[in-house]
Amino acid sequence: MSSALSALTDLFPQPIVQAPMAGGPSGPRLAAAVSEAGGLGFLAAGYKTADGMYQEIKQVRGLTGRPFGVNVFLPQPEHAESGAVDLYAQQLAGEAAWYRTELGEPDHGRDDGYEIKVAALVDDPVPVVSFHFGVPAREVVDALHRVGTFALVTATTVEEALAVERAGADAVIAQGVEAGGHQGTHRDLPENDGAGIGVLTLVALIREAVDLPVVAAGGIMRGGQIAAVLAAGASAAQLGTAFLATPESGAHALHKAALTDPLHPHTELTRAFSGRPARGLVNRFLREHGPYAPAAYPEVHHLTAPLRKAAAEAGDPQGMALWAGQGHRMARDLPAGRLVEVLAEELEAATAALPGRRTGGAR
Ligand SMILES: Cc1cc2nc3c(=O)[nH]c(=O)nc-3n(C[C@H](O)[C@H](O)[C@H](O)COP(=O)(O)O)c2cc1C
Repeated sequence: MSSALSALTDLFPQPIVQAPMAGGPSGPRLAAAVSEAGGLGFLAAGYKTADGMYQEIKQVRGLTGRPFGVNVFLPQPEHAESGAVDLYAQQLAGEAAWYRTELGEPDHGRDDGYEIKVAALVDDPVPVVSFHFGVPAREVVDALHRVGTFALVTATTVEEALAVERAGADAVIAQGVEAGGHQGTHRDLPENDGAGIGVLTLVALIREAVDLPVVAAGGIMRGGQIAAVLAAGASAAQLGTAFLATPESGAHALHKAALTDPLHPHTELTRAFSGRPARGLVNRFLREHGPYAPAAYPEVHHLTAPLRKAAAEAGDPQGMALWAGQGHRMARDLPAGRLVEVLAEELEAATAALPGRRTGGAR
């Protein structure tokens, strides 16, 4: 493990990974700024075409020579009850009328162009690829290794982390229940609702069960919290919401403003927007539709896409998916490179303050 660990963390001097954030927030400017500052910047290929992903890779390469990563979504299994989606569509009819739009087509595809994206990433490799919503096949991981790419996979439980290890991946992203956006749970099972594990506990559990480096994600907004996850055994921390607020983030201005708006004091996990549990600021749409939204991703994601777009165009944050982690109130409107520096300074101060510990970083 130690050589794999040092090879991975040697890619980025600061133990800070900028979370991939699909849907617009994490584009080439953000990824390049983070990598330039010594963190690991990430592009989000989710919801994009393979060509769109490739164009962004080219842009990052034009902005920085530093390593960066690309995140892809695993294809999703079929759902048994398609009637649940029809029913949800009926329940959302009033929203469509309110926002003067049509509901989206739920059967818009469920593989997110996975195979073609993986083929493109093997053909023209990037330093790191991470996977969300499942485990890639061993052959995919082997193909990435043959071209010199590190493969990271999200896990939300010990069992998922064991599956990540069996697939031959280089590191586990331990995503705690505090995390903003979608939980990367390998299979969305409603009977497991409420069983999410906090990031510190998850890191410790995974470290005891799995012989792989761990990247900790969920609610981390300050360097002191990075020190905490490193002390718990993580090799690096992955931050989404903290980078969502930066000027380089492509998040909608209303989304950025809502992170620290006292009108949005809470977050919740909800299926209201996408059909899969994702953490967002509580707003009207989440409150009204969350309680009965079906477990049907990506159908519900496709269904609500025009509603979310129309709400954003109308300047109405009450109808938008305001993804955010539990630490959202600590968001800082700092340039992304400066944020990496500040986090590194806070990490150093927090580590120095621990009795008997030397300042460390990634190792
Ligand atoms: C707006 C947003 C979009 C996200 N999209 C993705 C994604 O495309 N792929 C992924 O692996 N994780 C995604 N995540 C989850 C992050 O990888 C990470 O687990 C999370 O941001 C950590 O919690 P934090 O937001 O409290 O820092 C997203 C998170 C947010 C906030």
